[in-house]
Amino acid sequence: NLATTFLDLPLNNPLMNASGVWCSVGSQLEALQESEAGAMVTKSCTLQPRDGNPEPRYRVLNGDKPWGSINSMGLPNEGFAYYLRYTERHDYESKPLFISISGLTLDDNLAMIDSLKDAVTPAILEINLSCPNVPGKAQLGYDFDAMDTLLAEVTSGYGQRALGVKLPPYFDIAHFDEAAAILNRYPSVAFVTCINSIGNALAIDIDSESVIIKPKDGFGGLGGDYVLPTALANVNAFYRRCPEKAIIGCGGVKSGQEAFMHILAGATLVQMGTALYEEGPSIFGRVKAELSEIMEKKGYSSLSQFHGKLKTL
Ligand code: DHB
Repeated sequence: NLATTFLDLPLNNPLMNASGVWCSVGSQLEALQESEAGAMVTKSCTLQPRDGNPEPRYRVLNGDKPWGSINSMGLPNEGFAYYLRYTERHDYESKPLFISISGLTLDDNLAMIDSLKDAVTPAILEINLSCPNVPGKAQLGYDFDAMDTLLAEVTSGYGQRALGVKLPPYFDIAHFDEAAAILNRYPSVAFVTCINSIGNALAIDIDSESVIIKPKDGFGGLGGDYVLPTALANVNAFYRRCPEKAIIGCGGVKSGQEAFMHILAGATLVQMGTALYEEGPSIFGRVKAELSEIMEKKGYSSLSQFHGKLKTL
């Protein structure tokens, strides 16, 4: 039994897409709605539509092991109004929907939040503080003063309704402490999604002696196997520090095993990015079955029996 709840909403299972993957246009969103995912999120959007960066801008990193992806999409998206319209036709009976926003400025974020508040759709707001790929725009999650200012404005602009933030990975205990302390000042920040890609990695092809994606001289966000331990650390660090918030885990999940690890570390929901990009929405049925099998072998009949129960030595 993989059933769970998130912000009091019932879900068939804890699996969903990572924002950016299979969620940019209506046909992809409909495929996620038809899939076995327990929830889904739309592509991070800006106030105006964007073409994004020049191609190639996504590549799979194809050693047998480890395996992953690098991307510098640059926020190609259909614009906020397009995703807002999807929120109005989504079948909320089948699964909850998150809408991800990633405004280029604080004012753009506030404008989107303002229309969402008036639209009164049941979609759950996730604010992306961690896009690494727009040339000239810093990742907000790495600027703690800017993050604090943004949270003050958006939580008040959203009338203290529940919302969440998508964070970049942190690599220092002092940064876990500082980010969590800021988040804990905002009770309406009800969930935290950890992690976005490890920003500005560089993949090199030895034969051509070249970078493999075009934007930013080849620098792009890293996902897949490479990021799993960093993702688990961030999930668990925020789970320990933010007891009033739910954690959504993202990073390195491609089978039931990694999904189990994220939940053990404290994730209530588990997202898939690279693996979904490579395998398509049928991945949800496979990973569901694998997670159920692991639970059965261990004698667990519900997620709550091991959620957050990671042991230490
Ligand atoms: C993009 C990448 C991200 O990691 C993100 O959080 C938002 C947007 C992108 O390149 O489109």
